[in-house]
Amino acid sequence: MTNYAGRLRLGVNIDHVATVRNARGGAYPDPIRAAKLAEEAGADGITAHLREDRRHITDPDIDGLMEALSVPLNFEMAATDEMQAIALRHKPHAVCIVPEKREERTTEGGLEVAREENKLAHFIAPLRDVGCRVSIFIAADQKQIDAANRIGAQVIELHTGAYCDFHAEGKFDERDEELARLRDMCAYAHTLGLEVHAGHGLTYDTVKPIAAFPEVMELNIGHFLIGESIFRGLQPAIAEMRRLMDEART
Ligand code: PXP
Repeated sequence: MTNYAGRLRLGVNIDHVATVRNARGGAYPDPIRAAKLAEEAGADGITAHLREDRRHITDPDIDGLMEALSVPLNFEMAATDEMQAIALRHKPHAVCIVPEKREERTTEGGLEVAREENKLAHFIAPLRDVGCRVSIFIAADQKQIDAANRIGAQVIELHTGAYCDFHAEGKFDERDEELARLRDMCAYAHTLGLEVHAGHGLTYDTVKPIAAFPEVMELNIGHFLIGESIFRGLQPAIAEMRRLMDEART
């Protein structure tokens, strides 16, 4: 059974440092440097999503992160043979399987585990065999949680994007309904023995209610932190997120 002990971990997603770099096609800003600074600022892990179209993180970035990091790398990837081969070569601490559509701007929804149970069970088995902690990114939906559990995932990451969008649009009733769903599904997943993570779209305004759920062990946060670092610097931006998470937890 997952244990509740230990502080809530913060995984800093550095994809959008690479987005800015790639806008000009040069070498800066360097996502590896950002990852090292994030580590110093108290990130418990670094998350990077190698997308099929390499729109932000690239293969050499993953090589560099594997070499440079002292904290665990959470390697986000689609369930494709190409990504599986890359993960098996690097054996990162964790892999998070996410849905990916070429035309989307970001990871729009959770993975449809229930529809592809057999395929995903076969897909994650070799990753588990080499020691990667396998996480599945899903909506707060009991059917998806049950399926993630059946295929042998150790972790689920619940998609907080809808909750954050409702907040940003001022749709507070819908936001609160989604928050209640997230709370219930965190508790449910925990009863199955799954480790529960959450992320997507989180900001200073939305992080605390999610951080307050006792079953949540890790939050993965990127876009907002990289944007905020323009104004206050990466390390102060991370430190403030850390402070809010700790405050929510006490
Ligand atoms: N968790 C997962 C599984 C993601 O795909 C992403 C986005 O790459 C995040 C967390 C972080 O989302 P954001 O960049 O909106 O904070």
